[in-house]
Amino acid sequence: MKGGLSGLRNQHVSLLLIALVCATVVVWTWEKTPILTSISPPQSHVLQLFPGPPDGEIIDKQDLEVQTSSNQLEVPVNSTNTSSSVRKEENENPMTLLTKEQVISTNVTEVSNIKQVSEQKNSSKQAEKDLVTSRSFASIDSSVKGEYSDNLTTHVEKQACNYGKGKWVMDDSRPLYSGFGCKQWLSSMWACHLTQRNDFEYEKLRWRPKDCEMEDFTGAKFLRRMQDKTLAFIGDSLGRQQFQSLMCMITGGEERADVLDVGKEYGLAKARGAVRPDGWAYWFPTTNTTILYYWSASLCDLEPLNMTNPDTDFAMHLDRPPAFLRRFLHKFDVLILNTGHHWNRGKLKANRWVMYVGGVPNSNRKIADIAGAKNFTIHSIVSWVNSQLPKYPGLKAFYRSISPRHFFNGDWNTGGTCDNTTPLSDGKEVLHDESSDPLTAEAVKGTHVKLLDITALSQLRDEGHISRYSIKATPGVQDCLHWCLPGVPDTWNEIVFAQL
Ligand SMILES: *[C@@H]1O[C@H](CO)[C@@H](O)[C@H](O)[C@H]1NC(C)=O
Ligand SMILES: *[C@@H]1O[C@H](CO)[C@@H](O)[C@H](O)[C@H]1NC(C)=O
Ligand SMILES: *[C@@H]1O[C@H](CO)[C@@H](O)[C@H](O)[C@H]1NC(C)=O
Ligand SMILES: *[C@@H]1O[C@H](CO)[C@@H](O)[C@H](O)[C@H]1NC(C)=O
Ligand SMILES: *[C@@H]1O[C@H](CO)[C@@H](O)[C@H](O)[C@H]1NC(C)=O
Ligand SMILES: *[C@@H]1O[C@H](CO)[C@@H](O)[C@H](O)[C@H]1NC(C)=O
Ligand SMILES: *[C@@H]1O[C@H](CO)[C@@H](O)[C@H](O)[C@H]1NC(C)=O
Ligand SMILES: *[C@@H]1O[C@H](CO)[C@@H](O)[C@H](O)[C@H]1NC(C)=O
Repeated sequence: MKGGLSGLRNQHVSLLLIALVCATVVVWTWEKTPILTSISPPQSHVLQLFPGPPDGEIIDKQDLEVQTSSNQLEVPVNSTNTSSSVRKEENENPMTLLTKEQVISTNVTEVSNIKQVSEQKNSSKQAEKDLVTSRSFASIDSSVKGEYSDNLTTHVEKQACNYGKGKWVMDDSRPLYSGFGCKQWLSSMWACHLTQRNDFEYEKLRWRPKDCEMEDFTGAKFLRRMQDKTLAFIGDSLGRQQFQSLMCMITGGEERADVLDVGKEYGLAKARGAVRPDGWAYWFPTTNTTILYYWSASLCDLEPLNMTNPDTDFAMHLDRPPAFLRRFLHKFDVLILNTGHHWNRGKLKANRWVMYVGGVPNSNRKIADIAGAKNFTIHSIVSWVNSQLPKYPGLKAFYRSISPRHFFNGDWNTGGTCDNTTPLSDGKEVLHDESSDPLTAEAVKGTHVKLLDITALSQLRDEGHISRYSIKATPGVQDCLHWCLPGVPDTWNEIVFAQL
């Protein structure tokens, strides 16, 4: 009996020892991996993610869509003519519209982006304080980032579950909602069942992480976990896709008359003359849960340089988070940020965005370069959010890595295509630990902002884009940037859910 007990104890001790050794290895690997990533040469799959020059113009239907009626029917405009599509984009850009319609208007009760900016400028003490904080990040103070870097529990937890590593499998329980449904939230331009597409094999794929169990998503479980909470997406049209996907996943694509539009509480009412509001917010009364999306393509603050001039340029404050984020961060329990595809000369020029750093026009040549500006902005916003986390200990902040484009044999405006309809023809597994978006991985490293690393797993899904099946298909132009819904962004949300 005695011997048996001590034998058991010995067994326990060995198990403990093994666990300790494993943990040490795991911690060590975690510490080393980012370094390895930064010194190892870029792999070919990484290069493929960013075809063309970094300054290459990238289509974004978010800017090109026209809202033809209030029931969210949105169709892409004819974008074969580049110069006319750029002009269209200017006209439909909410910021530009607001400049023209709102700035001159004397009706101060109307909420607009511009007004938010000026409010922030005129501003409460808190906003001023936030501004000072964000300004002080002009030089990306690494001491803030380093604050928690020796917290081993956090690292082990992260390493134990790399959701980005794993494989795609066929699963009849997918998709989580019907592509014919969810009309309440899903833009018809992204609902591929409403287009001419007739292969839907891709909807049956499910992501299985290698290192961790991913709990089955159900709307009920999600809402229960989000009781009395608010989840915010802030980013470009790919962020908006993730937002619509989540709304459909929660409701199973069913009509929900009880869900309230609470956009007004966040200043997201559609301004007069605008094509659409700058975002949407919905409240689920059963669990007091709010899900919202705010459109900020560049994840930095935009400020008109001349309030009285309808054709004004905008200061694009690379080191200052969007006014919306500064204003409402205290209300968020989960935050999911992204940017990426708007960082090119064409878009900056069309939107009349002028780079500012430290409140003055940028003079740093390293930042003036588009890739440099993007990197600087991502580092700035991640640092800023990280600096706010001690104030909001309940806040879970994610930065989503870049969503890959799949233009083959050309770019979006030179006949690039993504015609393949056979899922996983380029492999089904992600086996490497390091992110395929090293820039973003580097930005969140050492912070408490979590990396939502969807790049490599989405890279395997070239068949999942809108492709040539847009509602008003334009010969020769394919959308190999946005995804069919249901589709790949559903997986991004499953990975978020697993971490709530
Ligand atoms: C799109 O624009 C091009 C060039 O302006 C024109 O030739 C073409 O007919 C247009 N297509 C549609 C569907 O409007
Ligand atoms: C594109 O649009 C511009 C402006 O409307 C026009 O001047 C130009 O001729 C058009 N190009 C083509 C190829 O249609
Ligand atoms: C100002 O806008 C608000 C909200 O849209 C509206 O209720 C009000 O009538 C407007 N006032 C004027 C003077 O246009
Ligand atoms: C700025 O705020 C002050 C104090 O709240 C207010 O009196 C003033 O009218 C505001 N100015 C503008 C331009 O909104
Ligand atoms: C480490 O991180 C965990 C989880 O985020 C937190 O609860 C704990 O307080 C941290 N410990 C230190 C020493 O920062
Ligand atoms: C709903 O949630 C918010 C926090 O998001 C909380 O302040 C509020 O009290 C909750 N309302 C109810 C009725 O519980
Ligand atoms: C702002 O724009 C107005 C109208 O175009 C112009 O009259 C004014 O001189 C501009 N102000 C500045 C400071 O550039
Ligand atoms: C990105 O920006 C950070 C912070 O400014 C800097 O340390 C890093 O070297 C930059 N990376 C690249 C690839 O430019």
